[in-house]
Amino acid sequence: APKAIIAPSILSADFANLGAECSKTIAQGADWLHVDIMDGHFVPNLTFGPPVVAKIRTHVDRPAASYGKGTFDCHMMIAEPKKWVKEFKAVGCDLYCFHYEAAIDSSAAESPHPDAATDLKTNPRELVRYIHEQGMLAGIAIKPATSVDVLYDVLDSPHKAERPDMVLVMTVEPGFGGQKFMASELPKVQELRKRYPELNIEVDGGLGPGTIDQAADAGANVIVAGSAVFGAKDPAGVISLLREAVDK
Ligand code: DX5
Ligand code: ZN
Repeated sequence: APKAIIAPSILSADFANLGAECSKTIAQGADWLHVDIMDGHFVPNLTFGPPVVAKIRTHVDRPAASYGKGTFDCHMMIAEPKKWVKEFKAVGCDLYCFHYEAAIDSSAAESPHPDAATDLKTNPRELVRYIHEQGMLAGIAIKPATSVDVLYDVLDSPHKAERPDMVLVMTVEPGFGGQKFMASELPKVQELRKRYPELNIEVDGGLGPGTIDQAADAGANVIVAGSAVFGAKDPAGVISLLREAVDK
């Protein structure tokens, strides 16, 4: 399996000091920043949008290479994922991870945006290709109610440009930090790891010292942790503990 990538979720950071919180977590050993974008529609919560991402980008050096330190891993919990691709590229997003459920939902095609491609409704293969064309890595996320089987069409595409660089298996219902880890989602990770030995498989929700071993044993290598890192007395210690559990 690929090496550990530790991605603290800044949802649990002090939003009044966000720039400093971001540079601090990178200095403490984080690889990526996991940036949770919520629109109050796809999920019942709101976070922030492009102007805030642009500002925090100035506090964190751009990654030197794909997947490198400082990668902005933007988890797009939004109803119209295609509409925001160009804007997020422009503000410094490196990996644009959309929800499968949003991409296939035709009701997402309301309220056209002037800069967006005219066809806002899309399919996952086309959306992955579009994200790649804009120069970002692409991820696809699934909620707990979504079967992992829906991902095989896109992961097995004959065209490399249509294949995602990462899959995110949610281990809580998206929307809030600090929820209880759902071990029921780990069979999805196991199945993906069996089929795709080199795929980046991310888990998000309820990860911390008490749950990392299960997730690592299932085959996850990209580890999101919000409250477990930002709520810790020793965040650097938690980051290295998570890394060692994956790389052991
Ligand atoms: C939830 C977000 C997560 C959240 C995780 O919808 O996608 O990234 O910040 O928080 P913890 O690690 O506290 O469960
Ligand atoms: Zn997230």
